[in-house]
Amino acid sequence: MLRRVIRPLTAAALMLQAAPVLAQEVLDTDPNTLAPSKDPKRTANGLAQTPPMGWNSWNKFACNVNEAVIRKTADAMASNGMKAAGYEYIVIDDCWHGTRDANGFITEDRTRFPGGMKALGDYIHAKGLKFGIYSDAGTKTCGGRPGSQGHEYQDALQYARWGVDYLKYDWCSTGVRNAEEAYATMADALRATERPILFSLCEWGNSRPWLWGAKIGNMWRTTGDITDKWEGKHGYSWGVASIVDLNEPLWPFAAPGHWNDPDMLEVGNGGLSDTEYRAHFSLWAMMAAPLIAGNDVAGMSAATRDILLNKDVIAVDQDSLGAQGHRVARDGKQEIWVKPMADGGRTLLLWNRGEAPARIVADWPKLGLPTGISLHGRNLWTHKDLGRLSKSYGAEVAPHGVVMIRLFS
Ligand code: GLA
Repeated sequence: MLRRVIRPLTAAALMLQAAPVLAQEVLDTDPNTLAPSKDPKRTANGLAQTPPMGWNSWNKFACNVNEAVIRKTADAMASNGMKAAGYEYIVIDDCWHGTRDANGFITEDRTRFPGGMKALGDYIHAKGLKFGIYSDAGTKTCGGRPGSQGHEYQDALQYARWGVDYLKYDWCSTGVRNAEEAYATMADALRATERPILFSLCEWGNSRPWLWGAKIGNMWRTTGDITDKWEGKHGYSWGVASIVDLNEPLWPFAAPGHWNDPDMLEVGNGGLSDTEYRAHFSLWAMMAAPLIAGNDVAGMSAATRDILLNKDVIAVDQDSLGAQGHRVARDGKQEIWVKPMADGGRTLLLWNRGEAPARIVADWPKLGLPTGISLHGRNLWTHKDLGRLSKSYGAEVAPHGVVMIRLFS
């Protein structure tokens, strides 16, 4: 429980202050429980009006990232339909760093990135894509490379010089640092470069960034790391279905400009069936989550490509209303989810988490619709038109599978 003691300063004390300070706050508990920021000077950067889309190196390549991987990924994304479908950012995650130079500027690891970051950014931009990079609010990244603590403005300046468009900012080696302060400092540093840089907060949800992150960043991780498994907690990581349960209740906090981030996609990494990957992708779209592919997009199977490039499902994620869909009914292992859409319609998701096929029926009141209304239906995975539907929609759903329906008038 936060107890906050606010001592108003006297007029005499105020006159002695160099900067205008209206109240002095004494906190007697964990600073990470601070209330949402009320700083009126802090404004959102205007980016990410729909959930960011792109690719990140971590889920597939972890610390084995290098220039060849990034160039190959850029080539693939520009030509395999991903760019046309909206995947935009190529984000180099951890382990790209070299040391700091004599003036404290961060350099790239020249063994892994012999051409340097500026040339790599130019290459990505020439393909019509955008360039993302990774750092950490502490003294070291999670992979043990130099963190940005104490170098925020210098690092932001260096990224801007390299042409960076996106920063993922992690939370390892932060000690007792206050999360809101740490992320606000880097947000201010990015703003000072005058380059539009999307800011991705990777603080794992520890100090509830959904309460204070809206004017600081464009997306915030709500959980620990995803892993290419169906459910459960595996060390520090979570299976796909378990991540969904952690991210789902946060639906009121997502809106254009700032999104809940249940972590990057595992689609195509081999640990799940295609049915499960379709469910994974559908649930991310229902939750208006950033769609950051995490597989080897230069060597993916046709089945993986069909999932990542399903334009009907992507359109649900990218809907301009920006509402995060959520669960409206659960019966044992069967769930009904709804996402309100900009055209006044709904996207309906029937999700069977059980081990046997199950029939799931959603009636209109569960979707917030009057019983008398009839709506047009379209199945977003079979792409079949379902004609006009009234009162309810039901379907048999495969184990661990989904049926995803767009309802519109
Ligand atoms: C943390 C993050 C991951 C990834 C790794 C890199 O675990 O949550 O997404 O960036 O660090 O070391």
